[in-house]
Amino acid sequence: MSALRGRGLTRVYPSTAGDVTAIADIDIDIDAGELVVVRGASGAGKTTLLNLLGALDRPTAGTVWFDDVEATELDEDTLARVRRERLGFVFQSFGLIPVLSAAENVELPLRIARVPAAERDARVTDALRLVGLAGHAQQRPGELSGGQQQRVGIARAIVGRPRVLIADEPTAQLDSRTAASVIELIGELVHGEGIAAIVATHDPLVVQRADRIVELHDGRAAPTTVIESATT
Ligand SMILES: Nc1ncnc2c1ncn2[C@@H]1O[C@H](COP(=O)(O)OP(=O)(O)O)[C@@H](O)[C@H]1O
Ligand SMILES: [Mg+2]
Repeated sequence: MSALRGRGLTRVYPSTAGDVTAIADIDIDIDAGELVVVRGASGAGKTTLLNLLGALDRPTAGTVWFDDVEATELDEDTLARVRRERLGFVFQSFGLIPVLSAAENVELPLRIARVPAAERDARVTDALRLVGLAGHAQQRPGELSGGQQQRVGIARAIVGRPRVLIADEPTAQLDSRTAASVIELIGELVHGEGIAAIVATHDPLVVQRADRIVELHDGRAAPTTVIESATT
């Protein structure tokens, strides 16, 4: 069973100038240990699709499952809990709180989930180590480079041990070398920790790392490209 699955996903935004169909009839599956890239021009519907898959928004039509849980039938409270337990989000703008240290930013979702303090400390240390920032725990976002800030963002996304990582253009604000190292990290987490990941991007480096690509054109999926993994 896929860690994350969408069927017939359609999102229509009502507008006075006429309805906008942002995505139409998208089917998608993301398995554990798999990195799926959503590629498409600006306005193609990438963010809309990720928001539906992350249950941050509800589809006009279609269904989303997290493993065997049908997200589209849950009430808001249950959905919030399921989202917290199963999903991690990474944003283009990093989304860190400037007055908190790297460690405190990473700890925040665990506080919200009422994880006890001792366990929080262990998990924060672990997550910062996984993203290569063990020595930067006490620095605030403003004292870190863009690449380091996005690593904090990734640590925060994985500290709750999600099954699924959802990243919307995570490297768009980074220079190409930093972007490459962030992508390398996402690839390692996906393949090493068995997380299922879906990443929206135009970045060719991200695309190279993908196990599978979903190409969006005006909210519709072009035939799926399957990349054969290199075998030697
Ligand atoms: N809240 C909204 N209300 C109305 N239209 C929207 C809204 N969000 C996105 N759209 C429209 O939906 C389409 C897809 O947008 P989006 O999912 O943000 O694309 P992408 O992330 O690929 O740039 C665009 O035409 C955009 O203008
Ligand atoms: Mg977008």
